[in-house]
Formats: sequence, structure tokens, C-alpha cells
Amino acid sequence: MQRRKIIMTNFEEKMAQYVSLTEESLKRFNDYKEENEPQKRLIDAMNYSLEAGGKRIRPALVYAFCEALGGELECATAPAAAIEMIHTCSLIHDDLPAMDNDDLRRGKPSCHKQFDEATAILAGDALTVLPFEVIADCGELSADQKVLMISVLANSIGRDGMMGGQMIDLLNEKRTDVSEDELRNMYRCKTGQLLAVSCVMGAICADAGNETLRAAAEYGLRLGLAFQIIDDILDITADEAELGKPIGSDEELNKTTFVTLYGLDGAQKIADKATSEALEWLDAIDNNEFLKELTTKLLSRRK
Ligand code: IPE
Ligand code: IPE
Ligand code: MG
Ligand code: MG
Ligand code: MG
Repeated sequence: MQRRKIIMTNFEEKMAQYVSLTEESLKRFNDYKEENEPQKRLIDAMNYSLEAGGKRIRPALVYAFCEALGGELECATAPAAAIEMIHTCSLIHDDLPAMDNDDLRRGKPSCHKQFDEATAILAGDALTVLPFEVIADCGELSADQKVLMISVLANSIGRDGMMGGQMIDLLNEKRTDVSEDELRNMYRCKTGQLLAVSCVMGAICADAGNETLRAAAEYGLRLGLAFQIIDDILDITADEAELGKPIGSDEELNKTTFVTLYGLDGAQKIADKATSEALEWLDAIDNNEFLKELTTKLLSRRK
């Protein structure tokens, strides 16, 4: 099949386009239906966290996979917004006192600090279900595409995905004997799955075949491992104002990370290796220039 060639003038321009498409659609999908809705506080809390910023890496992956594989950008709008909502939910809940108990997120008070715990729980819950409505209602996707997306997305969020990973993360706080294999599995669940499903949903937008879907998932899982290790490194080495969330949170909570297992240099080496493997999987994807640059840039990020 003849693939549309992506003309990439500049990485920053492309990323800015994806970010602006994401922010515009997030606003639209979570708009108020009427003035003074009785549950306005819930919508306000959802919007507060959605609009607080963030790198928008996951929606960028949806758009980039869709475009690289010859899909129309409009088809990616719903799944891109959907994954950012799920991710934002994971952050709202991750910051709650019952979990990581962090008061700063994306440079602003965490959702439960700005509102209250009950509102933050509900905002996270609502941000987990709205994505399924957004995908189901999307006019740009076929019924087959929607069903497949809903299936892979649900799987990546729930007991075998992000939520399962968060459970293991919390259980590990009580332990001092977490092995590398256990840690890899936890990272795969809590972080890797949402990155992988972003890539897979982008590929579904372009009606990619099974082999390409597999490459997208394998790439996303390796990117996720590198991404979480860098996050752990930044928890020690970053500047809090630049990072937009508290430094030293992991140590305070007795988290086992690749840094506690292997030190900063050892952890960086594992992130480097995971990134190289991720780049190898990208060789199976056409027009991969933007994705390759994104993958490499994420390794040296400061926030
Ligand atoms: C933070 O994710 C949580 C992790 C999985 C490490 P991001 O670093 O993508 O957070 P935002 O969206 O930019 O705030
Ligand atoms: C991120 O783990 C995992 C999810 C939010 C699903 P962290 O707890 O390390 O994320 P940050 O550092 O608070 O963003
Ligand atoms: Mg956490
Ligand atoms: Mg946290
Ligand atoms: Mg962290």
C-alpha cells in the first residue's frame, strides 16, 4: 500500500501541534453542558488537573503512530484525549494521602489540595470512564476500531495494567527484598502499559496489521521502562520548580527503584538499554523520524 509521506520540518513544531490538538480536544470533551450544573465542582476538578499542563507524551504517541502509519490525524483525536484523561486520573489518585501523598503536581497544588480528597477521588474516577464514552461516540472511527481500542485500553488500565502496577508499588513500600524482575514487572504494569496502549491505539487509527500492533506495543513497553527509570532518577536529581512535583518522594516512601538497586549510574544504563531496544522496535514502523527523536529526547529530559 502506498503510504503518505510525513513531511517533518521540525520536531518541536510537530510536538507543539500534537500538544495543541490535545489541549483543544480535552477542553471540548470535558466542557460544561450548562451553566451552574449541580456537579460543577467535579467538572472543575477534572479540568483543573487536565489543564495544569504536563508533557502530553501519551497523546503525542497516539498522534505520531497514527500519522507514521498513514492514518488521518482526526482519527487520533478521541484516543489521544482518552489516554491523557486516564493518565491524569492516575496522577490525581497517585498523589492522594493514601498513595504517594504528594501536594504538588504539574507545578500546582495536587487535585486533593486544591479541592479535597473526596473530590479528587471522584475526579479521577470520572476521568477513567469519560475516555470510553469519548471513543465510543467518535465519528471518525469504525465500529471495529472502537471495539478494539476499548478492549486494549481497558486492559492496560485495570487489574493487569496501571492499577495493578500501582497496587504492587504500594505493597513494595513495606518490603526491602524487591528483586529486579519484580521491579520490571511493576514498571511494565504501572507505566509501560499506558505508553504501550497509546502507541497501539495510534496504530489502530491507521488500521495497522497485527505485526505492526505488536511492534507498537513492544516499543511502548520499552519506552515505558526507560521513562519510569528516568522519573525515578529525576526524583533525586531534578529541580523541584522545574519538575513541578516534589523531589525525594520515593525515598520518603521507602520505594524500591532501579536507583536504590543499582545507583544513579546503574539505573541510567538500564534506561539507556531499554531506549536502544525501543528504537530497534521502531524500525518496524514507517516514517519513524519523529518517534525516534521523541524516544531519544525523553532519555535526557529534565522534567
Ligand atoms: C508521570 O508521568 C508519571 C509517570 C508515569 C512517571 P509524566 O512525566 O508523563 O507526567 P506529566 O503528564 O508530564 O505531568
Ligand atoms: C507513576 O509513578 C505511576 C503512575 C502514576 C501510574 P510515580 O509515583 O513515580 O509518579 P510520580 O513521580 O508521582 O509522577
Ligand atoms: Mg506512585
Ligand atoms: Mg507518585
Ligand atoms: Mg516518580
